[in-house]
Amino acid sequence: MNVLIIGAGGREYSIGLALQKDENVDKIYFAPGNGATDELGENLEISDFNELADFVEANAVELTIVGPEAPLVEGIVDVFEKRDLAIFGPSAQAAQLEGSKIFMKNFLARHNVPTAKYIETDSLEDAYKFINTLEAPIVVKADGLCGGKGVIIAQSHDEAKKAAGEMLSGNSFGDAGTSIVVEEFLDGYELSVFAICDGKDYVVLPAAQDHKRLLNNDEGPNTGGMGAYAPTPLINDEIYRKLNERVIEPTLKGMESEGMPFTGVLFIGVMVVKGEPIILEYNVRFGDPECEEIMPLLKSPASELFYKAATGNLKNAKIEFYDKYAVGVVMASKDYPYKSTAPAEIIVDDIYHDELNENAHISYAGVSRGDDGKLYATGGRVLVCVGVGDSIKEAQERAYMLVGQVHYAGKQCRTDIAYQAL
Ligand SMILES: Nc1ncnc2c1ncn2[C@@H]1O[C@H](COP(=O)(O)OP(=O)(O)O)[C@@H](O)[C@H]1O
Ligand SMILES: [Mg+2]
Repeated sequence: MNVLIIGAGGREYSIGLALQKDENVDKIYFAPGNGATDELGENLEISDFNELADFVEANAVELTIVGPEAPLVEGIVDVFEKRDLAIFGPSAQAAQLEGSKIFMKNFLARHNVPTAKYIETDSLEDAYKFINTLEAPIVVKADGLCGGKGVIIAQSHDEAKKAAGEMLSGNSFGDAGTSIVVEEFLDGYELSVFAICDGKDYVVLPAAQDHKRLLNNDEGPNTGGMGAYAPTPLINDEIYRKLNERVIEPTLKGMESEGMPFTGVLFIGVMVVKGEPIILEYNVRFGDPECEEIMPLLKSPASELFYKAATGNLKNAKIEFYDKYAVGVVMASKDYPYKSTAPAEIIVDDIYHDELNENAHISYAGVSRGDDGKLYATGGRVLVCVGVGDSIKEAQERAYMLVGQVHYAGKQCRTDIAYQAL
């Protein structure tokens, strides 16, 4: 089958790589793709949803996979479904699970899914009153999409009130912040769990842990993610069981009963507090860089997983994973995450080492192809070096061996990805 992937990051590149290995897949298209996805398939300069659907019809594309949240929230799935085209991702209505923290929190409350105690409000007075009932630290969240910057962990009541005031006045996040969620702080450890859903049934993928901070030992500013590994030993059968019974199943049933069945990736941000999984948030697409580590662990054909999910046929699917580990190290540009950096040519050494060739690869993200045909680092997060192995340690060693083969001016990466698991 021919497949179209929507998006431009390392996440979409890694989905493309998984599809390239799949015998059932003929041609792969990316819209828009990046400077390296043209080696896996063909990049399209189309962004209008109806024009993309026209392309899909004209080129016998049987499946479209949506990577990022923005087109989902903007309704790409609705446009395709109206035209009877198979597309993997939630409708605009269902994507509100990520698009609105208020929608998500109220949904969790309606369906008794465990989450931090909260209020949602657009009134500063109500926010103050609730803040006074909590102990610091206190969490203040803008309602809408803020590119991962809309959450303030306030260390004092005053700081929480100030954050609430700035959000509600529209000063910090514009319209995305004119309604807010204030919630209690949960003290525990965080996991990312991904469930592939077809509206009724689901497949849980190996759980990942990402590294949001720029520097080793989780120091420095927050970023889009500097690396991740999967599966993480921080999860066990008991937590999986609780997640299935208390979180995923009530969510899928609830979404269906409210007339917006959920298809796509349910990305569950979990805080484990004294062994109990409490839901921080939902996203409605793969995490990036988590996707880059999970895709290489998929043993079943990727097209089967995504196509069956898109068409409501996961129930009898037998989706298998390798009994292995993957570690992904993000290589970023010099001034990430503060400002953009001048383009720098990327050179990857020829690798003669069979073990490395077979067990490590690059997922390209912020790269462009120059007129000279060479690859340039042009984005903040440039690429992800992924190592696969029989242990986290082995996967980590391979990832870092590959990092050593990649060169461009100003490259930066953490040197401790997966340290929590070792
Ligand atoms: N109630 C909470 N208690 C403790 N930490 C939290 C809480 N809510 C959010 N966080 C922290 O803030 C991060 C971002 O919050 P999240 O709800 O995931 O929003 P987003 O990803 O949209 O920015 C989380 O990954 C977590 O580390
Ligand atoms: Mg989050």
